[in-house]
Amino acid sequence: MGANTYPIEEWVITEEKFLKEWNYRNETTFALSNGYIGTRGTFDEGYPFTVDEGLEGNFINGFYESEHIMYGEWNFGFPEKSQSLLNLPNLKKTKIVIDGDVFDLNQGEIINYNRKLLMKDGVVVRNVTWKSPNGKKVVAEFRRLVSLEKKNIMAIQIKLTPVNFSGKIELTTYLEAGVENHTRKTNPLIDYGPYGKHLAVKELKAEDNYLLHKGKVIHSGLSMACGSLTKCEGVIKNSEVLEEDASLTYELSVEEGKTYVFEKMIGYTCDFDIAEDKMIDFIKDELKKAMDLGYDEMEKLQKKHMDEFWSKADIKVEGDEALQQGIRFNLFHIMQSAGRDGRTGMGAKGLSGEGYEGHYFWDTEMYVLPVFIYTESELAKQLLNYRYDTLNQARDRAKILGHEKGALYPWRTINGEEASTYFPLGTAQYHVNADIAYAFKLYLDITGDDEFLVDEAAEVLVETARVWADVGCFAECKDNKYCICAVTGPDEYNAIVDNNFYTNLMARENIRDAKWALEKMKEIDKDAYDALVKKIDFKEEEIDYWDRIIENMYFPYDEKMQIYPQDDGFLMRKPWDESKIPEEKRHLLYENYHPLFVYRQKMAKQADAILGMLLHSNYFTNEELKRNYDFYQTVTLHHSSLSTCIFGILASQIGYDDEAYKYFSQSARMDLDDIHNNFYAGIHAANMAGTWQGIVFGFAGVRSNAGYLQINPKLPSQWKSYEFCLQYKGSNLNIKVAEREVEYTLLNDCELSYESLGEKIVLSKEGDKYVQEI
Ligand code: BGC
Repeated sequence: MGANTYPIEEWVITEEKFLKEWNYRNETTFALSNGYIGTRGTFDEGYPFTVDEGLEGNFINGFYESEHIMYGEWNFGFPEKSQSLLNLPNLKKTKIVIDGDVFDLNQGEIINYNRKLLMKDGVVVRNVTWKSPNGKKVVAEFRRLVSLEKKNIMAIQIKLTPVNFSGKIELTTYLEAGVENHTRKTNPLIDYGPYGKHLAVKELKAEDNYLLHKGKVIHSGLSMACGSLTKCEGVIKNSEVLEEDASLTYELSVEEGKTYVFEKMIGYTCDFDIAEDKMIDFIKDELKKAMDLGYDEMEKLQKKHMDEFWSKADIKVEGDEALQQGIRFNLFHIMQSAGRDGRTGMGAKGLSGEGYEGHYFWDTEMYVLPVFIYTESELAKQLLNYRYDTLNQARDRAKILGHEKGALYPWRTINGEEASTYFPLGTAQYHVNADIAYAFKLYLDITGDDEFLVDEAAEVLVETARVWADVGCFAECKDNKYCICAVTGPDEYNAIVDNNFYTNLMARENIRDAKWALEKMKEIDKDAYDALVKKIDFKEEEIDYWDRIIENMYFPYDEKMQIYPQDDGFLMRKPWDESKIPEEKRHLLYENYHPLFVYRQKMAKQADAILGMLLHSNYFTNEELKRNYDFYQTVTLHHSSLSTCIFGILASQIGYDDEAYKYFSQSARMDLDDIHNNFYAGIHAANMAGTWQGIVFGFAGVRSNAGYLQINPKLPSQWKSYEFCLQYKGSNLNIKVAEREVEYTLLNDCELSYESLGEKIVLSKEGDKYVQEI
């Protein structure tokens, strides 16, 4: 895809023309979700795309199939069961027959077409003027939302206006339950995930204006129900219930020039929330309540929710509309994709597709959570709750890996158990433990939520730290420094390495934070502290050992280059000669080369050591950061979408402003312009969040690692200004950075003291302002 695939508009993404070859990608662009249900942007009339052209997709967050994994060679501790987000029955489809002709963009004439994602409203609208093969012209408007207010509901409105005829229109609404996942068909590399149909129909009916279904997943045994309730000005002409499909047909006698409205509420639930025998009644109830409100009212509620979200999280940029569009598109998608019930996380692809089997990765904690922690802390807390909720699975996993105490979080998962099959790039990424701990600590630092520290965070921090205290040792050959061997850092082109710089640094901080959490908990709630110590059988001596590790953590360092190599062996590897790699293979190394070939090269797929340095930049001088940045700049291929945003932020910090802007621009429009050429499979949630970080942590230089809020704003020379809000310990601060000055406005009555460009600033009352030269 080329640049500017969609016209540049600040609040809207418009598909101006229906082009079959862009369909698959557009389905992701127009995907809607509310963190519980997600649906791809497929057409209401049900376009018959092949598996290479499109994918009907409807999902419930956390709802999966699980099968026995077949390994060619099995080792102890390999996960035995897969987890795949299951594609669920589709209820969006409404076949429209205009006086005998099926409304189908493949036939007749498209006179006018556009589809818009209205990011301010949280709604997708498609307008089509179509002439049937028989010359009947109709104006059709399709509106759709996935309700941010009612977690089980998706709502659709179709308006039809016959332009040059009076006659009959037939509308048939479907429930298609013969569903299957497509990843096995479209991704030949992975022999993983359900193949064929995995949702057995347990109940299927059409009654009154309802279509209802209950299904059970063959292997995971999970149950779900879904249904629709339609409202149509016509009469029911037919209802049909087959083995896997059900439908209701309405017939309308229409008059030329009049507009006819058809509304459909769609609901999904599953047995995580409702007992199996109550699910259908529950769905009927929810659908009825939504229909009583009606589509227009649902849209108003949606708008209210969106207004609230944008008032907290929007970033306004003056000076580059294309980037402004990218920023909002990215924020919109991450907001709608996050699990928010405390027992679901956020997939690397949100709920926008089957990519990565719907798995949750470290992407959530290191990329997405910082955004929510500073803007939507309640949402952030729910995502952290999910990790707390799966702490026992992590404890079990730690035991399997030989750690008697502590918890080891999985690299990829839905239900909390490890689901990655290739351990060098899966389980070996132990850093996920420290990443999760980092997010918990960041949440505590920014919100000051002591209750959460006592109830959940301290336990997670301690249990994750315990694994770090067990996985390594004080190695004599390294001056008795604490070494951690056989792990993989974030960079997936160097696997099973010794002393990955990022891992060692994050592990040390994890331990430090665990110690801090215990001390603080003891101080604020001694009873809860005693109870925790008892529950996890914590011994004071553990802290002594932690102290030794904190003091003596080993970091690879090259005296000559004065940089921190990514791991002990990094500089020994073969210099990367890209000219030897045919161009068409360059971005698909794992598809074209044996992993060992990749692991032996001195290059990196993505930001690794420099991510650690960025997160803990207070431990490094600017000179050190520069030297390391310069080095990693030459060896990083940015083959992961998680990379450029990190380089951009660090570039900003060290004053490489042009590079910062270049990286930021790539990150902001990565998915809109389909730079990685795989947007069809789903959003890149981590990078989307990385765009927000690029502005807030990059250009605005927001940091909290000194224990208080620090801001070092600058304005990219390409912009006139930018503006955003931050929440910090109950205070709500608006920050506007313009050409020569930064203006701070306190938006509530919660006093905030912070540092800007080294100056201490205190704002006390709502409306208090401070203007500073930059
Ligand atoms: C990256 C990982 C990331 C995963 C999911 C991989 O390509 O290397 O860091 O967690 O994608 O986004």
